[in-house]
Amino acid sequence: MADRLDTARLHASHGQVSAWNASLELSESRAFMQTSVAPSTDVKAVPLGTADDLRERIRRKAKLKGRQADDASLEEVRALIGAAPHRRDLLIENLHKINDAYRCLHDRHLVALAREMNIPMAEVYEVATFYHHFEVVREEAAEAPLTVRVCDGLSCELAGAQDLLKRLPALLGNENVRVVAAPCVGRCEQAPVAVVHQRAVPLATAEQVVTLARAQDEMHPASAIDAAFNPADLAGGSVSPAPQDVQVAPAYTGYEAYRAQGGYALAAAVVNGETDAESVIQAMEDSGLRGLGGAGFPAGRKWRIVRDQPAPKLMAVNIDEGEPGTFKDRTYLERDPHRFLEGLLVAAQVVGIARCYIYLRDEYHGCRAILQAELDKLQANPPCPLPNIELRRGAGAYICGEESAMIESIEGKRGEPRMRPPYIAQVGLFGRPTLEHNFETLYWVRDIVEKGAGWFSSFGRNGRKGLRSFSVSGRVKHPGVKLAPAGITLRELIAEYCGGMQDGHTLYAYLPGGASGGIFPESLADVPLDFDTIQPHGGFIGSAAVIVLSQHDKARDAALNMMRFFAHESCGQCTPCRVGTAKAAALLEAPVWDVETLEDLNTVMTDASICGLGQAAPNPVRCVIKYFPHEVNGSGAAA
Ligand SMILES: Cc1cc2nc3c(=O)[nH]c(=O)nc-3n(C[C@H](O)[C@H](O)[C@H](O)COP(=O)(O)O)c2cc1C
Ligand code: SF4
Ligand code: FES
Repeated sequence: MADRLDTARLHASHGQVSAWNASLELSESRAFMQTSVAPSTDVKAVPLGTADDLRERIRRKAKLKGRQADDASLEEVRALIGAAPHRRDLLIENLHKINDAYRCLHDRHLVALAREMNIPMAEVYEVATFYHHFEVVREEAAEAPLTVRVCDGLSCELAGAQDLLKRLPALLGNENVRVVAAPCVGRCEQAPVAVVHQRAVPLATAEQVVTLARAQDEMHPASAIDAAFNPADLAGGSVSPAPQDVQVAPAYTGYEAYRAQGGYALAAAVVNGETDAESVIQAMEDSGLRGLGGAGFPAGRKWRIVRDQPAPKLMAVNIDEGEPGTFKDRTYLERDPHRFLEGLLVAAQVVGIARCYIYLRDEYHGCRAILQAELDKLQANPPCPLPNIELRRGAGAYICGEESAMIESIEGKRGEPRMRPPYIAQVGLFGRPTLEHNFETLYWVRDIVEKGAGWFSSFGRNGRKGLRSFSVSGRVKHPGVKLAPAGITLRELIAEYCGGMQDGHTLYAYLPGGASGGIFPESLADVPLDFDTIQPHGGFIGSAAVIVLSQHDKARDAALNMMRFFAHESCGQCTPCRVGTAKAAALLEAPVWDVETLEDLNTVMTDASICGLGQAAPNPVRCVIKYFPHEVNGSGAAA
């Protein structure tokens, strides 16, 4: 106990972490003891803190040796981030405040932020430069340019993104506008997509983008609150509207409307003990619901594992939605935020979660506004006691969707995946057992428990069970989120849910699971789409991001697009992935592929990369070699 108090004082005196974080670190701490010689010659053990505390103090002492903060910059930073003390884990949130205000990060502001937050300058700099949405500039520029991002993800490329990227710089070159290519922004059904600062432009034309940029129309439009949205009614249909009705900010069901429709009755019953936790876990298990972020781990089993860990336990919700081709989480969130929040409350209660962190990708500016506003309403008028809930903002790094990288990012660090074991269910956020879930996994909790596990598992085709939200984009007539039975085939999905192929296009190939899930030929269009059914063919369904290619496209171009994406998004922590993805991207540009070298690279990346990014990056390449040899062997004919 004495160790604990001393360490707590140490933390408190430096104002580094909140009392809550301190208590978390305490229970994890391996307090070290230093011997000191007392005047009486007694040798006494004096607890000073953890090894991390000591490192922290040394770093703090060393940090002011470099450039000093000037008064004006300190004032500017304080005006944005408020008065000290500042939590270390809020570094990225604070960087956002500065980046939003100045459209970039001047190095003088980074120096001031380091001083204000009591963090070494090197640490601030290494975090700021990790994330694509932070533009670090060395000297004071007159006025930072407006950024126009043009998505060059596969679906947008199919829809003409390269043309936009060619034309826009010439049209806007003299107007303090910077046009940059960006990876998938999560609106693939609206391809091609551009984003003027924070304003998404669906089905973008160069003329529209120029008009918005010149008018400085750069913020995401506000959404109206009036929609009554019930996903169960959409099972067997399209969640997204028809292409001609695409909206950047659709209306959504607000707090009052959601409660009026019986919302939060389940959460209140679980929290108040009227519905017992075991029956909820049982329903989750019986429904067969598996994690919908990509890995497909059974949700109920994960709840049991984390429930059995020692308190305090935390939750991280993954709304990073960075997998190219995936936009299902955004589609639900921008229409029905409370169904997700109710799932979060139920999970938190059943598993015994003390604090929840919702990590939302930075590109979803509209969703962020909705979620913050609706969270505020929920917290102001709660239906039952709530856990602590914090909304965190990503900063443009795909790797932060990987669960351990996300945890690093929530802690305010570079999003570099951790080595496992230990798994995050045991040692996760701030060293505590952590339940991490994809948005959509939690989104279905209310319907599964209220309607019964049998409701969810009653859907399914070809021997598979459950519902899947397929994000379909590419050469189909009606792209969008399709709430279809698990096990549906691609051919059925296109015919029944997407209005068929676009005019003049016939099915040639498809990607069943975004960038990492492989590329399949038309001959595999009758394989049931679900967890476990795709692996035997060399791919996986992941987040069910289906991208459809036609006879006008090439699978090799899709593979190159994906490999460039991986090279861009590799966190760089391990060599097989950092070097392998860049080298593979260069090799894929050759008219005839050096298959032997590519296979070597594939093996090294799969076997020696730390995380799923590097391990899965070879999938599209392997599939092209296997299923589309005529595209890469120089013969032009199928082998
Ligand atoms: C490179 C990489 C990127 C990922 N991106 C996401 C993502 O954007 N959203 C997501 O929910 N899961 C993503 N995941 C999966 C998460 O690591 C994790 O499995 C998931 O959030 C767990 O939640 P679930 O069990 O509800 O699916 C990614 C995994 C990897 C390896
Ligand atoms: S595999 Fe790639 S993304 Fe994952 S840790 Fe290694 S370098 Fe980073
Ligand atoms: S939004 Fe462009 S590919 Fe997804």
